[in-house]
Amino acid sequence: MRTKILIDCDPGHDDAVAILYAAKHLDLVGVTTCHGNNTIENVTRNALSVLTLAGLVVPLAQGCADPLVGRKALVVNAHGKSGLDGTDLPEPDRAPVAAHAVDFLIDMASTHRGELVLAVIGPATNVALAIKKEPRFASWLREITVMGGSTALGNITPVAEYNVWCDPEAAAEMFACGAPIRMAGYNVTSVTGTNEADVNRLLGGGRVARHMGELLAFYLGKQRDRFGFDIAPMHDVCAIVPYAQEGLIEYRPCHVDVELNGRLTRGMTVCDLRTLTPQGRADRGVGEANALVAIRTEARRLIDHVVATVLSYS
Ligand code: RIB
Ligand code: CA
Repeated sequence: MRTKILIDCDPGHDDAVAILYAAKHLDLVGVTTCHGNNTIENVTRNALSVLTLAGLVVPLAQGCADPLVGRKALVVNAHGKSGLDGTDLPEPDRAPVAAHAVDFLIDMASTHRGELVLAVIGPATNVALAIKKEPRFASWLREITVMGGSTALGNITPVAEYNVWCDPEAAAEMFACGAPIRMAGYNVTSVTGTNEADVNRLLGGGRVARHMGELLAFYLGKQRDRFGFDIAPMHDVCAIVPYAQEGLIEYRPCHVDVELNGRLTRGMTVCDLRTLTPQGRADRGVGEANALVAIRTEARRLIDHVVATVLSYS
């Protein structure tokens, strides 16, 4: 039986790839949108356009426009003015459902109790509010799979990854909620991306693949300009792949918490990868592991698998 998954996202070029991948390999029961790569209006329109492009009939609920604390930091980022620059996507052929994303998340977790994997590939604002609004929400989920944080370098700051940096309070709530968590952080996603040859393979594919090729050509250019990368990191799909194809990402159990107050470190995920003995943990009052944290990917095999998936669309 295919894994039931709901994606909370902020499309975003890599979010778009994650949606297409999940729809092909898993039972994608819903999509929710959150501020992040762009305004809530733009990321919602972008998500609906991606679903329309691929002919995916999946309910989508619009979510939060701002983080739990403060206002959305409008960052002109790697995804362009619209949040999904680089190609002419079709206008959405449907509207979001009437429910707010927070209520939709609670409803879907209740409906698919014990079976639903929640993929959080943007800021965790909607998820944190669902945890606060429905105390049973976390216990209803099979697992939360996160693209966010890092065991090492950040991207938006030297130590903070963008999704967590956009709403650190929400991310802290999520990591503390008690649901099983799988984390694909920037430490692995930054080296797992599509190169020029992958983009050209997509440009030679069908209609969906060609649009994705144009999007990733734009995204690759931005990553080259900003970081000198020769790949477009496929951050978000790294949170989805393990439910369809095992053996491409290696994980370690680890305690993860989020820095909220550091002048230089706010939004940093502090991942305790020390190999402490039980005695060492007791001596230092170290928390139990609350996440499986990705420490390595089979990057080329993973990307080939993802590119083949996008090429399989007509
Ligand atoms: O830091 C990477 C994350 O930020 C990804 O989710 C990408 O979509 C961007 O939003
Ligand atoms: Ca994202």
